Amino acid sequence: MEIKIEDLKVLFSEEQLQTRIKELAGQLNKLYNGEEVIAVCVLKGAVMFAADLVKHLDMPLKMEFIRLSSYGSSTSTSGKVNAVDIKLPDLNGKNVLIIEDIVDTGLTAKFLIDFMHINFNVKSLKFCSLLDKKITRKVDIEPDYYCFEIDDKFVVGYGLDYDGYFRNLRYIGYKEL
Ligand code: IMP
Ligand code: MG
Repeated sequence: MEIKIEDLKVLFSEEQLQTRIKELAGQLNKLYNGEEVIAVCVLKGAVMFAADLVKHLDMPLKMEFIRLSSYGSSTSTSGKVNAVDIKLPDLNGKNVLIIEDIVDTGLTAKFLIDFMHINFNVKSLKFCSLLDKKITRKVDIEPDYYCFEIDDKFVVGYGLDYDGYFRNLRYIGYKEL
């Protein structure tokens, strides 16, 4: 598969994304009720979502960034998660909010949730994802929060890439086959 910008159809517009993200932030503000949160952004895909989401969170908050990789080819998962760069401060006793771009097979989400529980005795752990591809799941895991469910499409934009490109788009797009 090859994707060119002129092939892309809009799946979620900038306005749809921003509206839904504000709504989710409202839920999280209620959930945490002013308690401190450590937001862990999973690079590179979640960078746009995390940046926009945290702007609407109003508790004391720190941002951390970790980098993982699982994709073997450009559009299909390798089935293995590689911890490319995970340097985190002491998260014992913290409210940890993992921010991810998309849950696909669920392997990355499972890896991260297990990683947190193995390494830290967190006060709370929530996993939020911009997108949820429920039908491609291989492990039994659900994000605590997500903005949109999508079917089995390869999507790009707003942080999500094809071969490194399209992360800069303000919308989420897909190529109609
Ligand atoms: P997992 O299969 O749930 O472990 O997802 C692994 C990673 O694959 C996600 O964090 C994304 O970065 C990437 N990914 C999954 N589906 C798509 C897609 O449709 N477009 C771009 N990246 C994707
Ligand atoms: Mg990712």
